Amino acid sequence: MKYRSVIATRLGPPEVLQVVEHDLRAPTPGEVRVRVLAASVSRPDVSNRTGETLYTGTPLAKNKPPFVPGYAIIGDVEALGEGVENVALGDRVGVLTIVGGYTEVLYWSSDSLIPVPTSVDPVDAATLILNYIVAYQVLHRVAKVEAGDIALILGASGGIGTALLQLGQLAGLKLYGLASRRKHGILTQYGATPIDYHTQDFVEVLRQAEPGGIDVVLDGMSRVNSIRGGLSVLRRGGCVVSFGDPGGFPALFRMLWLFATTNLLPNGKSYKLYGTSPYFLGDKRPFLEDWATLFKLLADGQIDPVISETLPIIEAAQAHRLLEGGSVTGNVVLVAPGLA
Ligand SMILES: NC(=O)c1ccc[n+]([C@@H]2O[C@H](COP(=O)([O-])OP(=O)(O)OC[C@H]3O[C@@H](n4cnc5c(N)ncnc54)[C@H](OP(=O)(O)O)[C@@H]3O)[C@@H](O)[C@H]2O)c1
Repeated sequence: MKYRSVIATRLGPPEVLQVVEHDLRAPTPGEVRVRVLAASVSRPDVSNRTGETLYTGTPLAKNKPPFVPGYAIIGDVEALGEGVENVALGDRVGVLTIVGGYTEVLYWSSDSLIPVPTSVDPVDAATLILNYIVAYQVLHRVAKVEAGDIALILGASGGIGTALLQLGQLAGLKLYGLASRRKHGILTQYGATPIDYHTQDFVEVLRQAEPGGIDVVLDGMSRVNSIRGGLSVLRRGGCVVSFGDPGGFPALFRMLWLFATTNLLPNGKSYKLYGTSPYFLGDKRPFLEDWATLFKLLADGQIDPVISETLPIIEAAQAHRLLEGGSVTGNVVLVAPGLA
């Protein structure tokens, strides 16, 4: 029996993504075999493929070609290796793979599986494993928002941005968001005031609209100018949280300098950084708790991920073209044969 996956043959344009066939094998001890139902296509997948930007959450060795990109999947356990007792055949699971997700079959260690209810749609569920966990933790574990807080989202129309819109509305925030004009509809749908960053200066807009300052800036762009702008519109006690890819070491160093100077100065404002690396390096429990909360919100219909496009797993190259082309609002998800 065969299955297919998509490998990045080298770093470069979407065409470096090629479909390869493998023989199905039995899982090794401690491993499970997962039949992948859906794999999210995320901005870090694109960074891993191009190798042009620094994605700080990615252990660099993992995107050394040839490799299978794909940061997150949802699937069903179809075979158990010797000694596996924490999951059963047929269980639905999620995996934060970092790389390896663009595949019809995934072999993975049984101790890094995320429980997923079978009642939820696997395509929606795939967006919770990366984009929604980032949005949820940025809001509730880092910024620690409260109902009534005023928040600005930099990059509000993307995968994480739309998750922030939904979770922010649910948390009772007053929202502003930066997005290209053609995508403003999705912001207003979630009660946010859109700002077109191509034609408007968000600092001026917010100084007029919120003269007392705002509570939090949720920054998916990680550009030093917008972080400085974000800090300037905060009220005392407010914070900027950056979770975006700085796009290279020089920008990362500028951000770290800003981080040190902002937090050392007695200005009543703070600058915080977020990454998913604690899931791999530290305590997994906060992540597992937050995924459980998110799956409950999804099952209860309180969140409804924005899916712009679904494509078969083997069409990952086309999915990357779409994401890079800038036309996508929300998420692109790859799906198993039969679900496309
Ligand atoms: N820290 C972590 O653990 C973690 C995890 C996943 C992703 N990330 C990072 O988080 C960032 C966002 O990811 P994503 O998946 O949401 O990306 P995405 O879906 O590609 O969305 C990015 C959005 O940014 C907008 N944008 C581009 N230039 C902008 C600018 N100058 N000002 C404001 N908005 C701008 C685009 O919107 P318009 O089309 O409206 O212009 C686009 O919709 C990326 O840098 C990604 O690498 C971090």
